[in-house]
Amino acid sequence: MCGIVARIGAADDAVDELLVGLENLEYRGYDSAGLAVQTDRDVDVRKQAGGIDDLRNALAADPPSGSLGIGHTRWSTHGPPTDANAHPHTDCSGRVAVVHNGIIENYQRLRRELSHAGHAFESDTDTEVIPHLIESALADGAAPAAAFRAAIDRIEGSYAVAAVIGGREAVYAARNDSPLVVGASDSTQYLASDVPAFLEFTDRVAYLEDGDVVRVTPSGFTVTDERGERVHRATETVDWDPQDTGKGGYDHYMLKEINEQPTALGRSVSGRTDSGGEEVDLDGFLPGSFDGIDRVHLVAMGTSYHAAMYAESLLARRGVPARAFMSSEYAGSTPPEEDGTLVIAISQSGETADTIAAVRAASAERTMVATNVVGSSLTRECDDTLLVRAGPEIGVAATKSFSAQVATLSLLAERIRRDAVGDPSPDAAAFLSALTRLPDQVRRVVESGAAERIADAFADSESYFFIGRGPGHAVALEGALKFKEITYEHAEGFTAAELKHGPLALVTEETPVFAVFNGGTDDTETLGNVKEIRARGGPVVAVAGGETSDLAETVDHVLSVPSTHPELAGVLANVQLQLVAYHAAKQRGRAIDKPRNLAKSVTV
Ligand code: F6R
Repeated sequence: MCGIVARIGAADDAVDELLVGLENLEYRGYDSAGLAVQTDRDVDVRKQAGGIDDLRNALAADPPSGSLGIGHTRWSTHGPPTDANAHPHTDCSGRVAVVHNGIIENYQRLRRELSHAGHAFESDTDTEVIPHLIESALADGAAPAAAFRAAIDRIEGSYAVAAVIGGREAVYAARNDSPLVVGASDSTQYLASDVPAFLEFTDRVAYLEDGDVVRVTPSGFTVTDERGERVHRATETVDWDPQDTGKGGYDHYMLKEINEQPTALGRSVSGRTDSGGEEVDLDGFLPGSFDGIDRVHLVAMGTSYHAAMYAESLLARRGVPARAFMSSEYAGSTPPEEDGTLVIAISQSGETADTIAAVRAASAERTMVATNVVGSSLTRECDDTLLVRAGPEIGVAATKSFSAQVATLSLLAERIRRDAVGDPSPDAAAFLSALTRLPDQVRRVVESGAAERIADAFADSESYFFIGRGPGHAVALEGALKFKEITYEHAEGFTAAELKHGPLALVTEETPVFAVFNGGTDDTETLGNVKEIRARGGPVVAVAGGETSDLAETVDHVLSVPSTHPELAGVLANVQLQLVAYHAAKQRGRAIDKPRNLAKSVTV
C-alpha cells in the first residue's frame, strides 16, 4: 500500500508539485504523509501523522524550498500511524531520505545487522533499513548511484523505493512487485506509484519493470535492470485528461465517479459491439481467440470479485462453465486446472497483491487480466490484457470500475461463448443492443434523485441487508460492501433464498432489506422471498425496472431503474445502491472518499 512521488526539476518549486502529487495519490493511504527536499548538504524532511491537508497546513508557516524531492502518503503496515513511522525515513547523518511502498521481508535481519554496526533507528517500519543501508555503502566509499544499488541488492520483498541524497541533483529509485512509473517532460521529471500523481504536469509516461533501478535528473532518466545493465524504457503518451483526476466541482470523488458512469460505460462498449447487437469486436480478441477454452476461472477481490461473480453468471448462462474465486483463496483451495482452463484476473488497479498471487499460482496455460490501468503489474503477469476503460478512479469505494468491468466482461462472455460453443448465444442481439443503451439508462438513474430519499427514510436503522439472484446476487453483495465501507453501518448481502435458511432470524422492523429484481423469470421467486421478509415485519426496498405497480403493493419502497435485458438490470440496480450508500454516508458525516482503515489499492 502507500503512494510515493518524486519531482526532479530545475526551479525551486518541488514542494508545490509534490503536494499535488500526494493529493492525487491519497487514495492509496491516508494515515500519515511526508516529504523531503534535497538541499546543498543534506535533506529537509517534514512528515507527520494525518492526511495531506494536515501536512500542507503544517508546511504553510515555514515551507521547505528545493528543486528536487520525494513524498509519501501511508497506509500502515509496520507500526501505527505516528509521526515517527511516517515517511520519508532518514539515515543517522540526515543526508539520505527514502520513501517506500511495499514490504521489506528481511528487514528484521538487516535491522539487527545495522544496529550492531552502530545505526540508530527511530521508527517501527521495515523501510527505515533502506536509508541506513545507503548510508553504510556511502561510508564505504560508494558513489550515490552505487550506494543506492547496493542497498537495493540487500533488500528482499516488494518495493517501490525512491531516495534523495543531500547535495546530489538526482533521485534514485527502484521497483519490484510494487508499481512505479516515470513522468517525463523537457526540464522536469517525476516518479510516482500511479500516473494521476503527475498528470497535471505531464502525460508522457514510462512504465518501469520489476528489477529496474532508475536514476532521474532534471534532464531525463536512465534505467538499469537487475543485472545492472542499461535498458531502455520507452515513454508513451497516456490519454487520460488531468480533469479526470480532479473532483470537478463535486463534493466527493465517489459522487463524481458515480456520475461518470455513463461515460465510463460508453467507453467500455463503444467500438466493441454494434447497436444491432451482431458483432463483438473486442480489441485484439478476434473470432477464434478463445478456441480450445472449455472453462473459465475468475479471480478477484472486493468489488472486482463481485464483478467476477457477475461474469460467472453471464458465462454460465452462455454455456461456458465458469467459477469466481476470491484471489486470496485461489492458490490453496482450487480444483486443479484442467487443459482448456482460462484464468481471468479482474482488478481495477491491476496491482492487488492477492490477485497477483492467484495469477502466479495458476497453472493454466492461459491467463488474462481485465483491468483499468494500462501498464499495471497484472498486465505484465498475464498473457493477455483487456482494458475496461473506466478512466481514473480515485474514490476508495469502487464505483464506475464495477460498471465498466461488467460491461467489458459481458462482451468477453459473448466472445468466449462464440468461440467455445461455436455460435452466438440465443439472445445475443437483444443482450448486446441492451448493452449499448446502458450508458443512457445509467444517466437517467443518476439524475433521478430517488436514492437520497430512501437513504433518509432508513437513516436510523440497525442493519442493512441486500438480496438478489444470479447477477442480482453479485449486486446484493456489492451493495452491502459499498454501504458498509463508507457508512460504517452493518450491512450484509445474501442470495434471496438464503435468508430463510438462517439470516431471517436477524430481520426486524429495524433492518431494511434491499431486494434486487433482475426483470426476468426469477423475479417470481425473489418476490416470494420478499413476502417472507414482509411477513416478519422487515421493511423492503425493491430495486426493479419496468412496470412495478404490482411490486409496489408488496414492498415499502420501489427504487426504479429503466427496463433492460435481465442480465444487465443489475448494473442499473447497482448504481441506485451506490447512491443510497453515498447519501447514507453523507448524512452520517463520514469521510466518503477516505473511509477509515481502508486504502484503494491493496498491494500488500
Ligand atoms: C471496494 C474496493 C475494494 C477493491 C479491491 C480490489 O470499494 O474498492 O474492495 O475492489 O481491493 O481492488 P482491485 O480491483 O484494484 O484489484
